[in-house]
Amino acid sequence: MSPRKIFATTALPYANGNFHIGHIMEYIQADTWVRAQRMQGNQVNFVGADDAHGAPIMIAAEKAGKTPQQFVADIAAGRKQYLDGFHIAFDNWSNTDSPENHELSKQIYLDLKAAGFIETRVIEQFFDPAKNMFLPDRFIKGECPKCHAKDQYGDNCESCGAVYAPTDLINPFSALSGAKPEMRTSEHFFFKLSDPRAVEFLAEWTQNGKHVQPEVAAKVKEWFGVRTNPDGTTSEGLDDWDISRDAPYFGIEIPDAPGKYFYVWLDAPVGYLASLKNLLNQRGEDFDAYMADPALEQYHFIGKDIVTFHTLFWPAMLKFSGRKTPTKICVHGFLTVNNGEKMSKSRGTGLDPLKYLALKMNPEWLRYYLGAKLNGKNEDIDFSAEDFMLRVNSDLIGKYVNIASRAAGFIAKRFDGKLGAVSEDGQALLAQLRAAKDGIVAAYENRDSARAARDIMALCDKVNSYVDANKPWELAKKEGMDARLQDVCSTCIEAFRLLTIYLKPLLPAVAVQVEAFLNVAPLQFADADTLLGAGHGIGKYEHLMQRVVIEQLDALFEPPATPVVEAVKPGGEEIAPTITIDDFAKIDLRIAKIVECKPVEGSTKLLQLTLDAGEGKTRNVFSGIASMYQPEDLQGKLTVLVANLAPRKMKFGISEGMVLAASHADEKAVPGIYVLEPFPGAQPGMRIG
Ligand code: MSP
Ligand code: ZN
Repeated sequence: MSPRKIFATTALPYANGNFHIGHIMEYIQADTWVRAQRMQGNQVNFVGADDAHGAPIMIAAEKAGKTPQQFVADIAAGRKQYLDGFHIAFDNWSNTDSPENHELSKQIYLDLKAAGFIETRVIEQFFDPAKNMFLPDRFIKGECPKCHAKDQYGDNCESCGAVYAPTDLINPFSALSGAKPEMRTSEHFFFKLSDPRAVEFLAEWTQNGKHVQPEVAAKVKEWFGVRTNPDGTTSEGLDDWDISRDAPYFGIEIPDAPGKYFYVWLDAPVGYLASLKNLLNQRGEDFDAYMADPALEQYHFIGKDIVTFHTLFWPAMLKFSGRKTPTKICVHGFLTVNNGEKMSKSRGTGLDPLKYLALKMNPEWLRYYLGAKLNGKNEDIDFSAEDFMLRVNSDLIGKYVNIASRAAGFIAKRFDGKLGAVSEDGQALLAQLRAAKDGIVAAYENRDSARAARDIMALCDKVNSYVDANKPWELAKKEGMDARLQDVCSTCIEAFRLLTIYLKPLLPAVAVQVEAFLNVAPLQFADADTLLGAGHGIGKYEHLMQRVVIEQLDALFEPPATPVVEAVKPGGEEIAPTITIDDFAKIDLRIAKIVECKPVEGSTKLLQLTLDAGEGKTRNVFSGIASMYQPEDLQGKLTVLVANLAPRKMKFGISEGMVLAASHADEKAVPGIYVLEPFPGAQPGMRIG
């Protein structure tokens, strides 16, 4: 059989934060799969990239005082230490703001347009009157219209996975300013998924059992609303997909539509192709020719939260722009750490991948542990500290490494490092190990590394039983048993080599050490069909792996020390220079009752307050708190008035004092202004000091 040609990707992480352990899990799963493919001689191009675009990154960059490009580049610079650290061997890492992605995204859009799949429509969209911009979906929050989960984002629900328009949210508010958003109109571009061609294609593509796991297909069918009619045919439709956003936006400008940008999820998956193209360009290979090969397989590894984008939008974009559609969308569940919230506070809930590496914990422990839990289904898994230690120590040290350490010394000391012939009982054992190969390879193919690990550990058990039955340490002491000792130890080393082949996708660095120790070329699955054979010289055995110790896990989950005090700026600003009590006494603060509160015509910021500070007359005060309070929220309440502040003439009238309110120094970063209210019992006119 000729080698398969495969193009594999992981989801492109948003470039507004470092990797977390969930990302690392996805990469370990994909990397293990890719390595298993390569060990069969298949040709894989494995690429990733940063997902650079979208309003959240634009806003985060602005907050950090950087251009979005610089912001993304800084995040990207931090990626390598994670990837190298966990032996994740992408062939390329690009980003979605690359020239390749600009070009490909525009071309795909133009192809879709030519095929009649793009339509413009004037829509009503939420506008933040305080921020003066259309609100990105991620910055509108509210209640999910489907499952009624509170505090959900405007594009999809993290609780039930529903995808909807922000205008579908119940009780929406701006996450930027807290303001209630207003409806404004704007022209938007749509990808017509409602087109019968798209519906028909996706119904077949998602449900034909070839491209997604059965549990994913069932889920997709729900969203999509494919129904089986009484006559056995299927019908139902899909909603058109809004693919444009108005400036200001960090993204790719839509051809012939100034001020309009592709919504980030339009160009993000195109980034898969763009990263591949970038890689092939570097190698001087032709991207179009590579993609044109009908035998090319395309695999996307993703988490359960982004299934809609990958099983509806992305295949349809590819199909109707005349491109190759994915071979498989491989969906994994979410990783929780120490049972998510339930774990004790002292151990924390996070697992910081860099801290793990900094503590010199072995990255292959984690690869093995997660691999032994991932079964190719869309199911959540949990990292549990105790379970991790038990599993790694018992499987990798107690079962696997132990085999080599029990046999290698005798071969080195007694037989000059040379293996001997393996007799019948040893051959029978090795035959059992070889017979397991196809099942293990198939398990890796199906991303069921849990099954692979289980099978391999069952084989380790067999080998260890053989060692226990033959007791080489006793043979070594007996007269005339040299040949048997060499036979038994050679069997162990031959077995250890086979087990190493099987574990190599999960333990690539250990495998390299073993290859050096055994004096062999990089191990492939086909090498399991052969033996090293009598006379093969092996190198010096060096311990392959340490045990996990509890102190490492304690350190890993120890909460981080509180930051150095001098770096702390409470509320975003340093405490002002010291004043004396006399300075303070100059400010006359009084309890005042808000007897009336009204909006100010012509101002979105101000409210007009009528205050009673016990003076036998009321005062008029303007306050910039309209983004946070409705007039009726404040009427009748007590607050604090700066009573001896010089009156100030404003556009709307004279302000006779100021009410106290709290806010963060960087009101963009931490929006909100909070009026002070005294404890019950305070009376208008009382002085505060
Ligand atoms: N930028 C989009 C993907 C665009 S793909 C064209 C995105 N980025 S993400 O950073 O939020 O997530 C990247 C991947 O990490 C997704 O596959 C997501 O499911 C996965 N995970 C995020 N948290 C996770 C866990 N806790 N556990 C496992 N995977 C998780 O979505
Ligand atoms: Zn929901």
